[in-house]
Amino acid sequence: MIRWPCALLILLPFLGNGSRSEFAPANLSLPFRNPKGSEWKKESALRESIKRIKHWNSLSFGDNITALYGINQFSHLSAKEFKAIYLQSRSSKVPRYVPQVALQGTDSPLPPKFDWRDKNVVTEVKNQRQCGACWAFSVVSGIESAYAIKRNTLEELSVQQVIDCSYNNYGCNGGSTISALSWLNETHVKLVRDSKYPFQAHAGLCHYFRRSDFGISVTDYVAYDLR
Ligand SMILES: *[C@@H]1O[C@H](CO)[C@@H](O)[C@H](O)[C@H]1NC(C)=O
Ligand SMILES: *[C@@H]1O[C@H](CO)[C@@H](O)[C@H](O)[C@H]1NC(C)=O
Ligand SMILES: *[C@@H]1O[C@H](CO)[C@@H](O)[C@H](O)[C@H]1NC(C)=O
Repeated sequence: MIRWPCALLILLPFLGNGSRSEFAPANLSLPFRNPKGSEWKKESALRESIKRIKHWNSLSFGDNITALYGINQFSHLSAKEFKAIYLQSRSSKVPRYVPQVALQGTDSPLPPKFDWRDKNVVTEVKNQRQCGACWAFSVVSGIESAYAIKRNTLEELSVQQVIDCSYNNYGCNGGSTISALSWLNETHVKLVRDSKYPFQAHAGLCHYFRRSDFGISVTDYVAYDLR
């Protein structure tokens, strides 16, 4: 079962480097005058969100600020609706991760803080819009970072290519990170730059590119269940 990549990606927007004022809900007067039906549902979901935001922000203050929460484009959705739209990763069975004992013998102490973003190996947070392709975003982001760590070049790669071409998944209706990786590993498809094959928020026909075009392919991978 690996559901976490989607949750992780969706959490990132809330962890951005914004200041408190950027996140402060400046105007909380709700835009729903005489709520009924779906408007009422939105208002009640929004009220729940505000409660949750206040709770999470209350746990983080002074030197202990790790994240600031605020109103965003998801706040009018209930947890159930959010899950149905955005958390469409299909689980795959992978072996449980077993920590390697050899690591414990290293002399240098672990740094108090380590953030791959400081090493310039993480691309910007993406917006999947109304497309349930978190599985594709997760895999592509992982490849971008692995490539950047190895080659010192951070490239934005095409998520749309994975959505359109990974035939063992369901485009914007969900998919599995493991199926996508296994497709990439088996076909050696070169992921092209995002600018060459930009995100459309809906699935389309798979575009093909010449072997000589720039692209990054996967030669192997491992997957573990970290829980
Ligand atoms: C809040 O928004 C309402 C409606 O958009 C506006 O009329 C009001 O002036 C705003 N209040 C503040 C404090 O910005
Ligand atoms: C931050 O959290 C630690 C551990 O929970 C606590 O000991 C410390 O007093 C907190 N610092 C502030 C400024 O709240
Ligand atoms: C990836 O593909 C290579 C062959 O190209 C194969 O040897 C390897 O087992 C594959 N990895 C996984 C995890 O399936």
